[in-house]
Amino acid sequence: MSRKILVTSALPYANGAIHLGHLVEYIQTDIWVRFQKMRGHTCHYVCADDTHGTPIMLRAEKEGISPEALIERVHGEHLRDFTGFHVGFDNYYSTNSEENRQFSYRIYNALKTNGKIVSRTISQLYDPVKNMFLPDRFVKGECPKCGAKDQYGDNCEVCGTTYQPTDLKNPYSAVSGATPELRDSEHFFFKLGECEDFLKSWTRAPGKLQEGAANKMQEWFEAGLNDWDISRDAPYFGFEIPDAPGKYFYVWLDAPVGYMASHKNLCDRLGIDFDSYWNKDSDAELYHFIGKDILYFHALFWPAMLEYAGYRTPTAINAHGFLTVDGAKMSKSRGTFITAESYLNHLNPEWLRYYFAAKLNNAIEDIDLNLEDFVARVNSDLIGKYINIASRAAGFLSKRFGGELTRDLGDIPLLSKLQAGAQDIAALFEAREYSRAIRDVMALADEVNQYVDQHKPWEIAKQEGRDAELQHVCSVLINAFRLLTIYLKPVLPKLAADIEAFLNLAPLSWADAGTLLLAHVINPYQHLMTRIDPKQVEAMVEENKQSLAPVVEAPKLDYDVPPIAETISIDDFMKIDLRVARIVEAKAVEGADKLVSLTLDIGTETRHVFAGIKSAYKPEDLQGRLTVMVANLAPRKMKFGMSEGMVLAAGGDGGLYILNPDDGAKPGMRVK
Ligand code: 2FM
Ligand code: ZN
Repeated sequence: MSRKILVTSALPYANGAIHLGHLVEYIQTDIWVRFQKMRGHTCHYVCADDTHGTPIMLRAEKEGISPEALIERVHGEHLRDFTGFHVGFDNYYSTNSEENRQFSYRIYNALKTNGKIVSRTISQLYDPVKNMFLPDRFVKGECPKCGAKDQYGDNCEVCGTTYQPTDLKNPYSAVSGATPELRDSEHFFFKLGECEDFLKSWTRAPGKLQEGAANKMQEWFEAGLNDWDISRDAPYFGFEIPDAPGKYFYVWLDAPVGYMASHKNLCDRLGIDFDSYWNKDSDAELYHFIGKDILYFHALFWPAMLEYAGYRTPTAINAHGFLTVDGAKMSKSRGTFITAESYLNHLNPEWLRYYFAAKLNNAIEDIDLNLEDFVARVNSDLIGKYINIASRAAGFLSKRFGGELTRDLGDIPLLSKLQAGAQDIAALFEAREYSRAIRDVMALADEVNQYVDQHKPWEIAKQEGRDAELQHVCSVLINAFRLLTIYLKPVLPKLAADIEAFLNLAPLSWADAGTLLLAHVINPYQHLMTRIDPKQVEAMVEENKQSLAPVVEAPKLDYDVPPIAETISIDDFMKIDLRVARIVEAKAVEGADKLVSLTLDIGTETRHVFAGIKSAYKPEDLQGRLTVMVANLAPRKMKFGMSEGMVLAAGGDGGLYILNPDDGAKPGMRVK
């Protein structure tokens, strides 16, 4: 019976690069989706960039571009990386889309109508320089427990204590450096506590959650479900809440709705009935693949939102663990925080797909990418056991038989065994027990290699009159290779496509394991996959090594340093025309004790400027020196005459210093 299946992977944030940690999930999901499609089911795989929230807003500001420009660029980068790893989304969309706005409004309004939204005034830390409320991660200060400096507002990385940002000692805004103050604001809450009965029965329904997740759920129920704050104040990059100007949906409200929005966009483009997937009585299956860190959002908030907004709820949530590299957390200094892009600069994506598959199971366990084991395993399994079967058999068939396989294979126990594996291997893929599926496939490959060793086609080929036997043995091997290819195709889609071309076959489906190739003509063997050279891995790790400057204790300053001003864009900066100027004349100004009157040569013209630097310089010492001036500042009428620009000087309570260009600069040169 054909099933209707909708599958999602978590939406990556639009402010960072895809790395190998992310890829565990996309590869895990993609394998499952490709398997379902090979089984003949209708399966849609949708995803999107998660584009809203304060970090993305601030990141865009830092880069001097709009959030829209940032998320567009990152969308391109993410899609490039996913495509590079053969992650075959049916749609890769964005949460900053019209569909997402519509569904977010619809769900919010339905929750409101059902009495599940309440408003309350809360006190929160506010940055008086940036004029914004500060998310916990944007407040820093001293840990209230151990006194460690520069800790985030939610927990201490030194002693592990969790606390409220208001508990920090000497707090400061990580955005501007200003001391935050407490301000009141009205927020909207989703009454999760009222959904407890529904959630208890939902999470306990068979098949919804893995064992580890169900246990976690139990802990959360025992701790009690708190109402969920779903609004944020402007400035915020996101969707403004209907009828609440200046209030925005918290990014985590519209992120999972992004699954629906991406699917809606796909359905509209392809003429698919969206409602039949999302209605309460839908006969479709809905699976969310996620990391263990976002279980709360997917197993509590999301099903409750769907339920009380009148939609169907997920069939199951499939959570996985984190990735470690060489047994440790990925590290930028060790070069093991490996981006997708840099992996692809050095290595074949299918090697990693295979390695992850060989490690993944249905439990929420961390998996380790051991780089030495990675090289050994890929080389021994993929090249040694699998690809070599084809390279050993195909040459004889092409050279001696025009590429034609025998008409009659007879009863070959090896092939019957390979064919009989289809059902069990399918059950393992279905249950996301990929490591067991791979182990079984490789055990079959071992048997094929034993067959090669027993029949030694290279020896038969040397003997006269044994042509039929040679063709028969090689035909058995090509059939075995084809069957192994079917079972590995969800994991190795590009290699499978190359093999389909080599074997002259239409795209293989799972059901094709029920047939054998007889009297079929294959193409000459062409190189399919190389071994990994450990040097490639070393080069990749080297490329990812970031030399981290040693952490030095900031020296104690005996003068005041003001906070950094609000960020400006490069365009704003380029509006300021800075020029090298020669001070051709410097005079005291009668009646003004701070000012010096300067005549400046800027190459094409001279300017007259009053500068407040008399406390630091004698006018005669300035004559002939080079400095830098703002040449396009509007002329200002001062008490002692017009000032046609401004010279640059560093200053504060620690003194006053005019800026000098380096040797060789000439009057009139632009300073950028
Ligand atoms: O944790 C994250 O990276 C989030 N961007 C995942 C969102 S998944 C979904 F709910 F949108
Ligand atoms: Zn601490």
